[in-house]
Amino acid sequence: MNARAERLSLSGRVAVVTGAAGGIGQATARLMAARGASLVLADLRAPDETLAAIRAAGGRAEALTLDCATEAGAEAIISAAITHFGRIDILHANAGISGPLNPDLTVGAADFAEILRINLIGPWLAIRAALAHLGAGGSIICTASVAGLRAGAGGIPYSASKAGVASLVQNVSCALAGQGIRVNAVAPGLIETGMTAPLYADARARGREDRIGQLNPLRRGGEAEEIAELVAFLASDAASYINGQVIAADGGLSASLPVATRPAGGNPRA
Ligand SMILES: NC(=O)c1ccc[n+]([C@@H]2O[C@H](COP(=O)([O-])OP(=O)(O)OC[C@H]3O[C@@H](n4cnc5c(N)ncnc54)[C@H](O)[C@@H]3O)[C@@H](O)[C@H]2O)c1
Repeated sequence: MNARAERLSLSGRVAVVTGAAGGIGQATARLMAARGASLVLADLRAPDETLAAIRAAGGRAEALTLDCATEAGAEAIISAAITHFGRIDILHANAGISGPLNPDLTVGAADFAEILRINLIGPWLAIRAALAHLGAGGSIICTASVAGLRAGAGGIPYSASKAGVASLVQNVSCALAGQGIRVNAVAPGLIETGMTAPLYADARARGREDRIGQLNPLRRGGEAEEIAELVAFLASDAASYINGQVIAADGGLSASLPVATRPAGGNPRA
């Protein structure tokens, strides 16, 4: 193994991934398993497909079907790592729901609270449970969103929940000062997963697939595997000095103010 591969290796590590039944969680779990980690897969719906794929590729994984955003659920997923593999080194707190995608100025308390419970309190409960077992070298990665960085990329409760996740990783990373545990978040842009399936289906049905992702400078939507690469990197020793950060993987969407652009070489002021 060359030096770079060695730094990216997760051999001997134990990782817990929430929301592992599909989408970004599935891609992350599969990549981390391919890099040598043993996995605990947790999701509200059975993560059988992910489990089968990892085992078929020769990896080690166990699966739990439960609500990760309860105190009991969060304790159970971390306990599973200890029971099955004897330790935990990596937590990817990724499970989430979007709620309505459009800004709804009438959303009520119960709907708002449920999105906060799953997207923000869920990661906190998983972090809290994991901290009882994580040691120096441990890595926590939450899935935030570009919707938590700026307005316009999701519903109001969803966006607020993801802004909360950004604050969560900043605060927890600082509260863990001196312990050698890193806490970061990834902020994906538009990725084709179960969560965005209706949006993609709608665009395809209207023959407007070519419009997907056109707001970002790469002019395309992203793949779950592209987010998994960032998560697996943050989990590894290759990211040993990255802590307390929210890192966007969004084709450049969050880099710009909303301006009308011209083709390369054109004068945008003309
Ligand atoms: N797809 C995108 O464009 C995009 C962009 C930014 C951020 N994200 C975030 O990425 C994360 C993963 O979403 P995805 O895009 O892969 O969508 P997805 O719907 O494919 O995956 C989300 C998973 O979370 C699970 N889940 C929901 N609530 C749960 C709970 N209480 N307990 C356990 N599991 C639960 C779902 O069953 C599902 O399998 C989410 O946090 C989402 O907000 C997605």
